[in-house]
Amino acid sequence: MCGIVGYTGNNNAAEILVNGLKNLEYRGYDSAGIAVLNEHKLDLYKSKGSLNKLEEKLDNNGKILAGTGIGHTRWATHGVPSDYNSHPHSDCNGKITIVHNGIIENYQDLKEDLFAKGHKFDSRTDSEVVAHLLEDFYDGDMVQALIEVDKLLEGSYAIVAISDDEPETIYGLKKDSPLVAGIGNQENYLASDIPALLSKTKDFYIFEDDEIAKVNRDRIEFYNLQGELLEKDLFEADWDADMVDKQGYDHFMLKEINEQPDVARRIMADRFTESDIDLGDIEEILAGDYKKVMITACGTAYHSGLIGRFLIEEFADIPVEVEVASELRYKKNFIDKNTLMIVVSQSGETADTLAALRLAKEKGARVVALTNSIGSSVDRESDASFQLMAGPEISVASTKAYVAMVLVFYLLSLKLGKLNDNISEARLKELIDDLKRLPYRIQETISEFAEISKEIAEAIKEYRSVFFIGRNIDYALALEGALKLKEISYIHAEAHPAGELKHGSLALIEDGVPVFAITTREKVAKKTLSNIEEVMARGGQVNLITAKNIEYDKIEVDNKLVLPEIDNIWSSVLAAIPLQLISYYTALELGRNIDKPRNLAKSVTVE
Ligand code: F6R
Repeated sequence: MCGIVGYTGNNNAAEILVNGLKNLEYRGYDSAGIAVLNEHKLDLYKSKGSLNKLEEKLDNNGKILAGTGIGHTRWATHGVPSDYNSHPHSDCNGKITIVHNGIIENYQDLKEDLFAKGHKFDSRTDSEVVAHLLEDFYDGDMVQALIEVDKLLEGSYAIVAISDDEPETIYGLKKDSPLVAGIGNQENYLASDIPALLSKTKDFYIFEDDEIAKVNRDRIEFYNLQGELLEKDLFEADWDADMVDKQGYDHFMLKEINEQPDVARRIMADRFTESDIDLGDIEEILAGDYKKVMITACGTAYHSGLIGRFLIEEFADIPVEVEVASELRYKKNFIDKNTLMIVVSQSGETADTLAALRLAKEKGARVVALTNSIGSSVDRESDASFQLMAGPEISVASTKAYVAMVLVFYLLSLKLGKLNDNISEARLKELIDDLKRLPYRIQETISEFAEISKEIAEAIKEYRSVFFIGRNIDYALALEGALKLKEISYIHAEAHPAGELKHGSLALIEDGVPVFAITTREKVAKKTLSNIEEVMARGGQVNLITAKNIEYDKIEVDNKLVLPEIDNIWSSVLAAIPLQLISYYTALELGRNIDKPRNLAKSVTVE
């Protein structure tokens, strides 16, 4: 949440900062700002609203000459979106200026102390205290000042700071919120995320917690909190700049939906022998001695975990618990050294997920991560990671990373099934052959359902409430379908286990109310079909997403989306696609800000 960029070099800092921030807008988009240093003079530009507003302001100021600066795009936590709450924030004399991601939990106490010392504040943010604290501690040595400030701060923070005494230097400090240093040629960068800098460099240093960087155009130095110089390993990103470009699509979301066949190919490349699956380092942990499996994640990643539970239970015959990460810490959790914990996070930086991971490690569990971000906190802190290889996901609504997560759960559960002697070699061979065909089926599903999704979008866009139902694994899909629709179209959507509808929510079904029913599994489809009848009897408008071999012929629903022919075991991957497309086209019909829905942000680094 919130995006940060810092730059020092010989080029136009303002332009570089704004371009970097454009690649980070998915992290927050309710206000933006930059601060640049021209010689010793600080110029600050801030604006409520999207980056375009900031750009207009900058354009009106003519060419801004500066070789050093910091920028920020905000997702408000403390203080409403406004010009004055936008970052960067300066101290009383405008000498030290900072941008901050995260939350300073004790900012009220710190602010009171600072007030008592005569400091005056311009904003209602938690972040501004950092600039004032640095003002108190800075005597020409910013590294030392940051060390002193770090001692006082509670919470999570990635801070980038400049001082008008040092017009060619930017500084970074990180704790529990991501920060990277990008290495250029006679110019260097800081950023909250790698995609901000991909058009500039592929070489990075990743900050660990409690590290400080001093960045000049020809040198980057890292220090620990004792002020000692650190040796850092170089990280080379294998993402390309065009991966963060819309490449002709109207929205990143549509581009990312269309990338799903390739994502599936990448995940499966080199994973199969004739009748086995090779999961590399993770296998040692999967084959280990544990008595229970737990999965934890948030939002869409949590929904992938629900599917993972069904798959592991089905293929490997091992009981699995799935917990929303933000709940896990606050209940009795029974995690111990006999637990295999699977942590799922696209960004690898979600604060709640990270906290759950740390708790699991503290209690002695082995932790396997499924993440799309190499070098992220989740990646680094787990015992082993499975890379989702979806490429940068820019749209706030997750699509390709979700399908990648589900696919990885298929691979994991099949492998566990093999290790537990729960799947015969012949059956595994059959399933592997099917998996190899899956990218083509994903492609077919996208092409086949684009038109009908537009028609359904047209039909449901005026309704205030939409329902999604399914049983077992189809209920997990229903949850994801409802989340996708509500987050980008702002239509209220609820998911229910199909059998639960009659226990209360059926009262809301009346003429025309849209209901999406998902039936991809023979075992429970018949039962769901009866629930669909109950909906139709109350006038509900039913859209059925179903697989071949299900007895859907007998039922006359408003729309029937029959997934391409494949063993129904895989239909849960395919069924996600019409749900994504319908949400996309509904939001499009309603003129919503599809890639950046209101109130949300990608990578939720606050609890
Ligand atoms: C919804 C969505 C979110 C994320 C959730 C976890 O489309 O993307 O619900 O799934 O915020 O994010 P990660 O996977 O980065 O931990």
